[in-house]
Amino acid sequence: MQIMSSAAAAPNIALVKYWGKRDDLRKLPINDSVSITLDERELCSTTTLVLGGKIKHDIFILNGKRGPDAHISEALMLIRKRLGKKYPLIRKPVLLISQNNFPTAAGIASSASGFAALAQAVAGAFGIVDKREISILARLGSGSASRSVFGGYARWRMGKRADGEDSFAVQISPRAHWPELVDVIVISDVEKKKVSSKAGMERTLKTSELCHCRQEHIGEAVEDVTRAIRKKDFEALAFSTMRDSNAMHATMLDSWPPIIYMNDVSREVVAAIHAYNERAGSLRAAYTFDAGPNAHIITKRKEAGKIVRLLQKIKGVKKIIVSGVGDGPKQIKTPKKTELLVERILGKQDLGDMILGDC
Ligand code: DP6
Repeated sequence: MQIMSSAAAAPNIALVKYWGKRDDLRKLPINDSVSITLDERELCSTTTLVLGGKIKHDIFILNGKRGPDAHISEALMLIRKRLGKKYPLIRKPVLLISQNNFPTAAGIASSASGFAALAQAVAGAFGIVDKREISILARLGSGSASRSVFGGYARWRMGKRADGEDSFAVQISPRAHWPELVDVIVISDVEKKKVSSKAGMERTLKTSELCHCRQEHIGEAVEDVTRAIRKKDFEALAFSTMRDSNAMHATMLDSWPPIIYMNDVSREVVAAIHAYNERAGSLRAAYTFDAGPNAHIITKRKEAGKIVRLLQKIKGVKKIIVSGVGDGPKQIKTPKKTELLVERILGKQDLGDMILGDC
């Protein structure tokens, strides 16, 4: 039997962040985190999974290029271990085709959207509808992907169990509850990060004293942001978001050797947002930075134009993308181009390094 399942998912931006694991392989975090799922019409990964095709090995086509990918292989190994008994087809070699509608080198994390789309495609193939299960499947690929399984606003509960069965995301509110928020993404560097999230988290947890201090207060930040979302209290959300981003980057700097993701442009953006809020007399915008120098400015849509014009003036800003809040992953009809590609690959597997183009 051959099954083809396609899904699309968007990245998310964390307001209270995940930086540190209690279990590396299962990706179990040391704290809860809270995020906004972005709009899949702006930023999206589309993944097609073919199960039961007559192939000898797993084949991955990522953004039009065939390649081995250790991160995906590890995720598939964990997914197979989890589902293999109930769904033996997953144990057979798979063909996976994944494409981002935003450049991978745009400095926007694609692992959250990529693994959320993969989890949704696996779920679609076997008729799994339990969101908790889909969130765990996504988490096995990348911790932050567990949150992208929901639209709107999500909270990843760290859980306590060693097997990770209680570590999954839940939705705080759907998009419709607070659709006015946007993420203004300010790109100043498109290079791949020098220290991966995985290596960075390990180093921070091992060497930073400050990391333990952040852990003491993070529960409060998670509750504050969750409450701010429920009450649509932008100022409370902005305050905790900026404080937690600063706290996380402080623990990175406190690691040994130090990890520095923010650059001069990031620091100018921070100053510009503080000045903007000062002029307004209230918190109208909040910055947050993931493991990279590109700023994410959370604000209301009506402020976005002014913020974009302000930040465009900063030297070194290469591109600005504005994304609203999204609805979460969707099972989709496999695009025609991908279907044709699947036929070609299943018919002739010796593709060498050929560029496979858009799919
Ligand atoms: C700074 O989810 O990419 O963006 O679980 O090792 O794949 P792995 O890490 P990943 O880390 C995300 C870190 C962050 C904060 C966040 O999104 O919560």
